[in-house]
Amino acid sequence: MASAYKIIDHAYDVVVVGAGGAGLRATLGMGMAGLKTACITKVFPTRSHTVAAQGGIGAALGNMGPDDWRWHMFDTVKGSDWLGDQDAIEYMCRSAIPAVVELEHFGVPFSRTDEGKIYQRPFGGHTTEYGDGPMAKRACAAADRTGHAILHTLYQQCLKHKAEFFVEYFALDLIMDEEGACRGVMAWNLDDGTIHRFRAHNVVLATGGYGRAYFSCTSAHTCTGDGNAMVLRAGLPLQDMEFVQFHPTGIYSAGCLITEGARGEGGYLTNSAGERFMERYAPHAKDLASRDVVSRAMTIEIREGRGIGKENDHILLHLEHLDPAVLHERLPGISETAKIFAGVEVTKEPIPVLPTVHYNMGGIPTNYHGEALRPTSRDPDGVCPGLMAIGEAACVSVHGANRLGTNSLIDLVVFGRAAAHRTAELVKPGQPHKPLPASAGEHAIDRLDRIRNAGGGSPTSHIRLKMQRTMQNHCAVFRTGDVLREGCRLIDEVKGQMGDLRLSDRSLVWNSDLVEALELDNLVSQSLSAIYSAEAREESRGAHAREDFPDRDDAQWMKHTLAWVDERGRVALDYRGVHMFTLSNEVSVFPPKKRVY
Ligand code: FUM
Repeated sequence: MASAYKIIDHAYDVVVVGAGGAGLRATLGMGMAGLKTACITKVFPTRSHTVAAQGGIGAALGNMGPDDWRWHMFDTVKGSDWLGDQDAIEYMCRSAIPAVVELEHFGVPFSRTDEGKIYQRPFGGHTTEYGDGPMAKRACAAADRTGHAILHTLYQQCLKHKAEFFVEYFALDLIMDEEGACRGVMAWNLDDGTIHRFRAHNVVLATGGYGRAYFSCTSAHTCTGDGNAMVLRAGLPLQDMEFVQFHPTGIYSAGCLITEGARGEGGYLTNSAGERFMERYAPHAKDLASRDVVSRAMTIEIREGRGIGKENDHILLHLEHLDPAVLHERLPGISETAKIFAGVEVTKEPIPVLPTVHYNMGGIPTNYHGEALRPTSRDPDGVCPGLMAIGEAACVSVHGANRLGTNSLIDLVVFGRAAAHRTAELVKPGQPHKPLPASAGEHAIDRLDRIRNAGGGSPTSHIRLKMQRTMQNHCAVFRTGDVLREGCRLIDEVKGQMGDLRLSDRSLVWNSDLVEALELDNLVSQSLSAIYSAEAREESRGAHAREDFPDRDDAQWMKHTLAWVDERGRVALDYRGVHMFTLSNEVSVFPPKKRVY
């Protein structure tokens, strides 16, 4: 089959897959280090999902009150429910400060204080004095379009540094050698149907999360975790896939994001009795408790009959008490979104909201340099040569069981930068490539060809809907063993149904039918890994709330889940330890304690 496709060959020092915040920051850093770098992306760079990030990027600049990167580190460890690796968290929180200053120097148009400093707002779970002080003002914001501002600036910087972009190229599969090293990546040019084989000393996956495994999410339709699925097909595991973040304030029914920055500016939630119920669940942080806590509280209110509307099935977010000038200056984006998607004028009435899938804490296991891991029982931190992962695709793990708001944008730039630094240590510009076997990449073409010619009875949209409904209903905010086991059975059925897939367009040029089918195939393997990992974890931690195991169990479960998924959809699980050590003696390990806000 592969011989029917003409392959166009390329050779680069580095190939970055994905052009969101992480991919662009890595591409820029590689270019600055003199490495010949290609960035492959299935959408135009400034349409990547980072563009939708709203409320801010976390860094303890202390522009608007006292702050310290150690407080940021404590909050992140606590937010992670002690599943985050403390060496990596130290690295991120400390590096956040120079990384944001660097963004400012690159030209990101941050909002400003009266003194001209970067404006910072409070965000959920971010406190001062190791949780004992008032909420920190740590989210560096460009109004409520922070991701947009960062993404456009990074793209401009990449162009300035002559980065080469392969736009609207769909990455198909990694090229691995017999020794288990990654040697490149195969891609399909959507525009003219050609197939490309990219050789590289380092492949950096910056392909984002897989929110679209769910029926309702804040993620773009492109968020199908293509890099994660390529890693599974390469025989490597994904880590902590059971931890899926629900953002408390997705617009009811539409799912669009209303930034947590809205609560940072003074917004609050009420139930059908008009009660500010978060005061009962999180007496100190209230509406600014961390996301898993707020999402669970909202779900309980609805379940116990205190939801809003005819169906008692949502909650209200109030901004109408805020000064219209603040809404105009600090929250213009969500004011417009609320108008369009909920028909609500935020200066006059509350927004109907519901917890909505927003972020995947799990992904490709890496160390804090961005190097992808090939963990074994003898070497749980062993790396896979030639492969890196950054951003939401990666599980470093800085977010553990629950990510704090603003820590996604900072993760993108800190680890995008770290991956470039590490690559510059490992790869010399222009160093020769080892020869590739003539068959390199054939497996990717065989898969493309099989899916392109699928002649069964089930269109992609039918199988996708079943997968999304299963994940939504069986791997939700609250979980039980019975519901998860039924979910595993249903996702197994979805996997089986992939054998009956039907495509109606067999062309190779702008074939969106084929793109969607490839993406679905990617999503199914990630759904399998997520739901099986969730079924196995018999405790509650962060975003994984088991009603049949309501407590965190550090003795048994303070460990990362590793999930392998084979071609037939069989899932194998194993575990690796959480890093309970720091990188320096400027901070001590934060030992586990009860997580209250
Ligand atoms: O609520 C928000 O603005 C989202 C931020 C984040 O996910 O970090």
